Amino acid sequence: MSTRAREMRAAGHNVISLAIGEPDFATPPVAIEAAHRAALDGHTKYPPVDGTPALKAAIQRKFRRDQRLDFAPGQIMVSNGGKQAIFNAFAATLDDGDEVVIPAPYWSSYALTAQFLGAVSVPVSCPANNGFRLRPEDLDAAITPRTKWVVLNAPNNPTGAAYTAEQLAALAAVLRRHPHIWVFSDEIYEHLRYDGLGSISIAAVAPDLAERVLVMSGVSKTYAMTGWRIGFCGGPPGLIRAMTVVQSHATAGISTLGQAAAAAVLDAPQAMVGEMVAAYHRRRDLVVGLLRQAPGLTCAVPEGAFYVFPSIAGCIGRASAGGRAIETDRDFAMALLEEQHVALVHGAAFGMSPYVRISYATDDAALEEACGRIIRFCQELKGPGVT
Ligand SMILES: Cc1ncc(COP(=O)(O)O)c(C=O)c1O
Repeated sequence: MSTRAREMRAAGHNVISLAIGEPDFATPPVAIEAAHRAALDGHTKYPPVDGTPALKAAIQRKFRRDQRLDFAPGQIMVSNGGKQAIFNAFAATLDDGDEVVIPAPYWSSYALTAQFLGAVSVPVSCPANNGFRLRPEDLDAAITPRTKWVVLNAPNNPTGAAYTAEQLAALAAVLRRHPHIWVFSDEIYEHLRYDGLGSISIAAVAPDLAERVLVMSGVSKTYAMTGWRIGFCGGPPGLIRAMTVVQSHATAGISTLGQAAAAAVLDAPQAMVGEMVAAYHRRRDLVVGLLRQAPGLTCAVPEGAFYVFPSIAGCIGRASAGGRAIETDRDFAMALLEEQHVALVHGAAFGMSPYVRISYATDDAALEEACGRIIRFCQELKGPGVT
C-alpha cells in the first residue's frame, strides 16, 4: 500500500495518507534543546546497555506520576523504541513451540516477532460488539500449558479500545489462575485517551501480579518523537536482566542524545500532552462523524490512540466506480487508493476483517478532504446492496 501510494505521489497524484501511526506534531522544543546540550556537553560515548541513569530516573518518576507504579532502577530498561522491548522480552523467554496469546485485532509486530523466534501466536478475537476488548472468558479459553505470554495493548492499535480499571481487574483474575504466564502490557498510547480515565495499567490494578507483568511505554506517540527511537519498560528484575543481555548483543545501548531528549520531555511540564490530546480528541470526533455518512461503513467511537477501525462489511460484494470488485478489505483499500487517492490500512493486516484502519494523526483539513473522498467512494459503489 505505501509503495503504491509513493508511486502515485511521484506520478503527481494528490495522495492523502491516513495509513501511518505517527503523530503529525513537532517534537517539543524542550527535548530538542536537551539533545543539543547533551551533545555539546560530551554525552557522546557508549551508554549503559539498559539506559542512562538520568533517563532511568526520569522513567522511574514518570511511572510513579502517571501509573502509580514503583520500579527500582534495576527494574527499568530503555530500548530502541517500544518495538525493541517486544523483541527483547520475547527473545529472552520464548522457546520453540511456546504460545503467545494476542487479542485480535492487533499490531502485527507481536505475532511476527513471536513467530520469528519459533513461537506460535494465538490470536483471540475481540469483536466489535464488546468494544474490541478482550473478554475474560475468551482469555481463559485461549490459555494452554504452552502459553508463555499474554499481550495486552490499550489503548489499542488499531481499534483505539481501552479498558476501565474494573475490566482490567477481571482479566487479572484470569491471569491469577495461570501463574506460568508473563503479561506484556503495551501502554505506548497510555496518554491518548478521550474518556477522561487517563493512563491505567494492569500492573497498578493488580499489584500482586508484579512478578510477571512487563509494562512497556515510550516517547514516540505521547510526545511526537517517533524518530528518536526511545521506548522503555518496567518489570521484574530477572526478566529485565535477561532482556538487557539480548539488547547488549542486538544493538548495545541506545543513542545518548535521544535518551537526553526523552529524560527532558518526561520531566517537563506535561501541558503539551494535554494540548495534543485535545487535538486528537477533536479529530476523532470529526472523523467518526464524517465516516458515519459513508454508506456501507459502520464506525464505533474509539476511547483512545489515534485510529478509527470502521467495518466495511456493507461494501463487500460490490464494485467500485472504476469497476474493481470489492471482495476483501484489501480490495477496498487498493481501490480507494487507486480511485480516490486515499491510503489506509486493511483490517487483515491486523488480524480482523472486513475492516480498515484510519489514522487521524494528521491535520483537520487533510482529514476532511480524505473523509470526503471515502464518502464519495462508498456512495459510488455499484452492484448488490445498492439502495
Ligand atoms: C501498539 C504499538 N506498540 C508499540 C509501537 C512501537 O513504538 P515505537 O515507535 O516506540 O517503537 C507501536 C508503533 O506503531 C504501536 O502501535
